[in-house]
Amino acid sequence: MSNVTFTMIKPDATGKLYTGAIIDRIIKNGFTIQAMKWTKLTKEQAGAFYAVHKERPFYGELVEFMSSGPIVAAILEKENAVADFRKLIGATNPAQADEGTIRKDFAASVGENAVHGSDSDENAAIESSFFFSQLERFL
Ligand code: RTP
Ligand code: MG
Repeated sequence: MSNVTFTMIKPDATGKLYTGAIIDRIIKNGFTIQAMKWTKLTKEQAGAFYAVHKERPFYGELVEFMSSGPIVAAILEKENAVADFRKLIGATNPAQADEGTIRKDFAASVGENAVHGSDSDENAAIESSFFFSQLERFL
């Protein structure tokens, strides 16, 4: 089992000035930051990042949204990082997210749900490499 996961703070959350509060929540829950950057995705980059969802009905909307404003990308380290981070962020739809989760507290809808979290060790590695070179990572 790998001990890293990848996250993005999405444009809805950066736009509502939740960035600091979300990073605080992540750190206080035991994740350490290996790499972090504030950037904005082009439509092409957002489309490539979410290419696994290309055939899904919400793909176009997702690409528009993810390229609509700044995001914060980060590699996070913790034992059992992928599963523990999915638990911390809560269900995809904030209406179904548990109390105390990041999506429950900061997300407005299933489409605009504040944060991304990798769904497997394999995808955590792929997504981390999408944003960060080896040189940019604190190991
Ligand atoms: P994420 O990848 O962003 O961490 O979210 P997730 O695993 O919880 O959900 P996933 O199924 O991977 O979907 C990726 C993102 O697509 C948007 N979505 N919109 N309108 C819809 O029905 C719908 N379903 C998914 C969400 O932004 C979701 O996080
Ligand atoms: Mg996902």
